[in-house]
Amino acid sequence: MSSYIASPKDGVAWITGASSGIGKALAMLLAREGWKVAVTARSLDKLEAMAEEAGSLRGSIMAFPGDVTDAREMERVVEAVERALGPLVLGVLNAGVYLPVKGEDLNVRDFEKSIAVNLLGTVNCLVPLSKWMKESGKGQIAIVSSVAGYRGLPTSAAYGATKAGLINMAEALKFDFDRMGIHLQVIMPGFVDTPATSQNPFPMPHLLGVEEAAEKIGEGLKTHSFEITFPKRFTYQLKLLRMLPYRLYFAAVARATGWPKKK
Ligand SMILES: NC(=O)c1ccc[n+]([C@@H]2O[C@H](COP(=O)([O-])OP(=O)(O)OC[C@H]3O[C@@H](n4cnc5c(N)ncnc54)[C@H](OP(=O)(O)O)[C@@H]3O)[C@@H](O)[C@H]2O)c1
Repeated sequence: MSSYIASPKDGVAWITGASSGIGKALAMLLAREGWKVAVTARSLDKLEAMAEEAGSLRGSIMAFPGDVTDAREMERVVEAVERALGPLVLGVLNAGVYLPVKGEDLNVRDFEKSIAVNLLGTVNCLVPLSKWMKESGKGQIAIVSSVAGYRGLPTSAAYGATKAGLINMAEALKFDFDRMGIHLQVIMPGFVDTPATSQNPFPMPHLLGVEEAAEKIGEGLKTHSFEITFPKRFTYQLKLLRMLPYRLYFAAVARATGWPKKK
């Protein structure tokens, strides 16, 4: 197991999908803790506003705008961060989209976009980031997945597939990253109150505020755990569901979500 826990005295943190929601709250938290934080998303105006907002904090925030679906652009961002701020020792690969899918309206576009941003977008960042860290012999990378990656949930056919893919990918890479001195983690939040969830038409049990979610992630980043998941009461219930045989699983989820059998 890689024993490395990144610290602001060693170098810089990079957060993708940092212009709103969980990424933004985490960037502000790390800057309060004294980190130099490089932030990436497509909305330059929002990133610059955050950089200004962080002006009075112990650390700082600097904008490196970009689209995670563009692999070359992510390579350039990683290079630019290292050049401008110093060695990257912590990466939180958080950019993601949630596109609800209904079986009755299946279309390829929702899957293409979800895979491009959530799965390939993460890989586009992971490749140059882990390359730099391999050369320096140390680093810490946390990939933001979701409890929706545990098992299939209503509306989550595209989103859940990408988040399950991220969990599997991280499990597979951990064997090599440990050898490379890179501490790899997967973050699996339950429901967090962000722009992505504000339109959800269904009740969200154990919904957490975004600041509280950022604190849980901040705490998890200081541990050797592979998995950072919260709120525990909710995620443990979902883990138990994961163990059920299919017949019981589908019945339990349909009942818990009030999912109608008929249109
Ligand atoms: N909220 C929850 O309940 C919840 C639960 C589990 C997991 N998560 C995961 O947590 C992460 C953050 O979600 P959130 O709830 O905080 O959502 P959010 O507020 O909508 O934030 C999503 C972030 O991703 C960025 N993004 C989207 N497409 C991008 C692209 N192509 N290139 C670069 N950046 C892109 C957005 O910025 P721009 O639009 O400016 O590019 C934004 O900063 C996601 O991976 C999500 O799946 C959320």
